Amino acid sequence: TVDTPITVPSPSLPPLILTQDELKKVAAYKAVEFVKSGMVLGLGTGSTAKHAVDKIGQLLRQGDLKDIVGIPTSKMTHEQALSLGIPLSDLDSHPVLDLAIDGADEVDPYMNLVKGRGGSLLREKMIEGCCKKFVVVVDESKLVKHLGGSGLAMPVEIVPFCWKFTAQRLQLLFNEVGCVAKLRTCSENGQPFVTDNGNYIIDLYFEKDLGDLNAASDAILRNPGVVEHGMFLGMATTVIIAGGRGVTVKNK
Ligand code: 5RP
Repeated sequence: TVDTPITVPSPSLPPLILTQDELKKVAAYKAVEFVKSGMVLGLGTGSTAKHAVDKIGQLLRQGDLKDIVGIPTSKMTHEQALSLGIPLSDLDSHPVLDLAIDGADEVDPYMNLVKGRGGSLLREKMIEGCCKKFVVVVDESKLVKHLGGSGLAMPVEIVPFCWKFTAQRLQLLFNEVGCVAKLRTCSENGQPFVTDNGNYIIDLYFEKDLGDLNAASDAILRNPGVVEHGMFLGMATTVIIAGGRGVTVKNK
């Protein structure tokens, strides 16, 4: 395991051979250096954010952090944080957070994100939109030139009512960039994947560059069946990227 983050990219040194999970841990631990006693923290969801939540739990146990309040972005993170003894709250009681740490599926050069391949995009966006500082932690495989250009899913959370109709509307919306809309299903039983909020996820796959992201965001949200989408535009204040040659910290 890698406990001490590498802080300076070193092109002169040979690259370190770390697994993807070790890189995630390096980025997550680096982000936890921003956490101070007394903070209200957004706790992210996914395999990268999990490392940050584990580390926060460890620092609390050791007495190196005190008076932390965590606001989990999913039921899964809620369970994890509970098991670590992290005191928890919600947006009703703490509408302003000091800091959130979360992973991402894609990060573009302007620090725009795709999130939600883990299915928690709605709570993530609600919570991370209320943070003074939103630190995104990724391994270098998440870096893309254009959001949606990796050929992987752009998640959209929709209400289950007439989901086929909403999926068709979304696919038609992006006809010009070769869009396919697919209902996310559970691999175990083929049933629709249901989010923590009781909704479905439509994954959009694009053949071409999406173009104007703000216009795409507005167009998606204009559909009444849509609850939220996984583009996080202009929200990240810091992105921490772990790669074989070290850690890069990008600030807004
Ligand atoms: C969950 C998310 C995750 O942050 C995103 O999917 C990244 O996950 P991982 O760290 O496991 O790669 O948005 O909804």
